[in-house]
Amino acid sequence: MHDDDREAGARTPRQRPLISRSRAAQRAGAGDPHRGRPAAVIDVRGASKTYELGQIRVRALHDISLRIERGDLVAIMGSSGSGKSTLMNILGCLDVATSGRYLIDGTDVSHMDEDELSDLRNRKIGFVFQSFNLVPRTSAIANVELPLAYAGVGRADRRRRAKAALAAVGMASREQHQPSELSGGQQQRVAVARALVTNPSLILADEPTGNLDSRSTEEVLRIFARLNGEGRTVVLITHEPDVAAQSKRVVTLSDGEIVEDRRSVGVHEPPPAPRRQKSAHVMPHRGEESRR
Ligand SMILES: Nc1ncnc2c1ncn2[C@@H]1O[C@H](COP(=O)(O)OP(=O)(O)O)[C@@H](O)[C@H]1O
Ligand SMILES: [Mg+2]
Repeated sequence: MHDDDREAGARTPRQRPLISRSRAAQRAGAGDPHRGRPAAVIDVRGASKTYELGQIRVRALHDISLRIERGDLVAIMGSSGSGKSTLMNILGCLDVATSGRYLIDGTDVSHMDEDELSDLRNRKIGFVFQSFNLVPRTSAIANVELPLAYAGVGRADRRRRAKAALAAVGMASREQHQPSELSGGQQQRVAVARALVTNPSLILADEPTGNLDSRSTEEVLRIFARLNGEGRTVVLITHEPDVAAQSKRVVTLSDGEIVEDRRSVGVHEPPPAPRRQKSAHVMPHRGEESRR
């Protein structure tokens, strides 16, 4: 069992007083669709987001409801401007919806202040961005240690966990390299290690392969698939159908609304086998590579 599962399993029943649990049980099936179901990592209920630019109101999301269970691997697709990043910012507690509710791991964040949100982000979410967002002129290992430093983890423990996270993404031999000394694919793997190192319940990635060549895309997708196979929930935003095809479920946004929600693989089944990306580039097998 995954650490996160154990934690949640132990925590959820204790947090809820017995009385409300029995009421929830009574109400299950009595009209409220949110009662009596297992807690989802992500539970968005009727969320809308409107940006105000002077006199102009931009409706970026309209009445979005989305539940994502622990262990799922979900791609969010949609054309440019469809609201993907706005949704990602809400899912990641980087922004709050204008209306509606959002529960992460059963905790309602709708009315949290900035400090509470930032604390929640540090504990529960690992972010991966299109542009890697590594700290320049800083070694890979120091980049990976950063979230642990924010969380107050001691130096020796930090180093040990950062090394393990770098090893998990195949970057153990590049610990001392700075971002400028790494390829795009390698930088993104370091960024994935940084997202992982706090052992978050949820990994959120906004166009993680948008700046990568086909080979690096495949490597990063393999890592996501493996993390998901270990029980982690991964939500990735992409506009590439090749990338979305490697998820278990594809949610499509258009004009701020969910227009399609299609599952190809069960939540608890292994993720789809990684496939070669964009046939133009070919990645050699390990054996072939070492013979060259
Ligand atoms: N900070 C902002 N202020 C005003 N409008 C915004 C802001 N961020 C996004 N938008 C608008 O909201 C809509 C959705 O944007 P976004 O979520 O970035 O879409 P996507 O990531 O799918 O390209 C777009 O019309 C965009 O112009
Ligand atoms: Mg975007």
